[in-house]
Amino acid sequence: MLVELKVNEGWSLECFVCGRAFEEDVTSFLCPSCGGLLQLIKTSHLDVDALFPRNEGRLTLWRYRRALPFDEGVEPVTLGEGGTGLVRSVHIGKGLGMNELFIKYEGQNPTGSFKDRGMTVAVTRARQSGAKVLICASTGNTSASLAAYSARAGLRSAVVVPHGKVASGKLAQAVAHGSEVLIVKGDFDFALSMTMEFAASDRSFYLMNSLNPYRIEGQKTVAFEIFEQLGNLVPDYIVLPVGNAGNISAIWKGFKELKAWGIADRTPKMIGVQAAGASPIAEAYAKGSNVISRWEKPSTIATAIRIGNPVSWMKALAAIRESRGMAMAVTDEEILVAKKMLASKEGLLVEAASAAPIAALNHLAPQLEAGALVVCIATGHGLKDQTDFQPSLLDAPIYQDKEQVLAALKRISAFDIEITR
Ligand code: F0G
Repeated sequence: MLVELKVNEGWSLECFVCGRAFEEDVTSFLCPSCGGLLQLIKTSHLDVDALFPRNEGRLTLWRYRRALPFDEGVEPVTLGEGGTGLVRSVHIGKGLGMNELFIKYEGQNPTGSFKDRGMTVAVTRARQSGAKVLICASTGNTSASLAAYSARAGLRSAVVVPHGKVASGKLAQAVAHGSEVLIVKGDFDFALSMTMEFAASDRSFYLMNSLNPYRIEGQKTVAFEIFEQLGNLVPDYIVLPVGNAGNISAIWKGFKELKAWGIADRTPKMIGVQAAGASPIAEAYAKGSNVISRWEKPSTIATAIRIGNPVSWMKALAAIRESRGMAMAVTDEEILVAKKMLASKEGLLVEAASAAPIAALNHLAPQLEAGALVVCIATGHGLKDQTDFQPSLLDAPIYQDKEQVLAALKRISAFDIEITR
């Protein structure tokens, strides 16, 4: 049965725009007064020991549960998300004169993207609400993640995805986890607007896109993790791909909380990177405008961020402004080069969207102060998205016997191979 969920004690649910406060979750996750996005605010501070408990033996993001909007007793719907590697660059940074470049490899999450951080929290909340069907629009990763966490929770899910623009690996995940996959003629923005409408008008549909503020609470934990992994340090810059703009808002919220609670003494600059063919936020930033203009025909090989009307644009512009960061755009060609570099020089296979921050470094590096500590967020795993990958193996010779393979190996060993450390 569907219940009106009271906002947890010690938390307030507020409109990001007009500040109106709500005692209960709002089904549409939009302010009924002004249409603004909502945000959850923790009303009391946490100290460092409460946020980073020792010896709990849990490496998932639920170790930060005191910073999440639940009572202690709530049983999370979890697949072991969070605890992803923060990998120091061995090659790309050097090439750019950056000694302190790190990559946060979010592809290591259970379904292969950062979406799992938001989904574990939002599905835990949805289960409390007694929701019947969890729904989202998606460019792929959100649908894969929602499908997995719904399966885990024993709840039904349906995902609305744009025809022809979702990587097959992501669709395969949604189907495998038992989600209803609804493919629509139109792009992500069209899919999202109808999904938001359905959730607002019928409470049996529970909205799981990132305007759901519980998603944001889960995703903010990457900030806590980076801080811990750097030995209680805040990076100078966080560089990440921006699509619907939930994640940049979430990570900024996490770092702001660390500072507000007196755990960190500063915040990083947030650098949002979009694909040139789908960059309304970078456009607004370049114009110095505090509103975006919707792009009617977004186009990029990085299908995960092929979005023309990002729902959280206002939060994203605020994050960039408040952090004194910036938004920028990179071309598909630059993205593909960066993706190849990450795979062949760093050992990290990421999807195209996730390579955008690395592509941006070519433009950023000359502007950075010496020794700047930079963390790029590699948002999703490359295995599920090979749409842009031209497998050279298709043209490779087929060896007929052991001798031929050995001859090939000998040819290879005849080359001097330079190994970078
Ligand atoms: N990187 C990847 C791999 C993504 O899948 C997405 C978003 C983003 C970056 C951008 O994050 O939307 O919070 O700014 N994917 C969504 C989806 C839209 O449906 O999977 P954002």
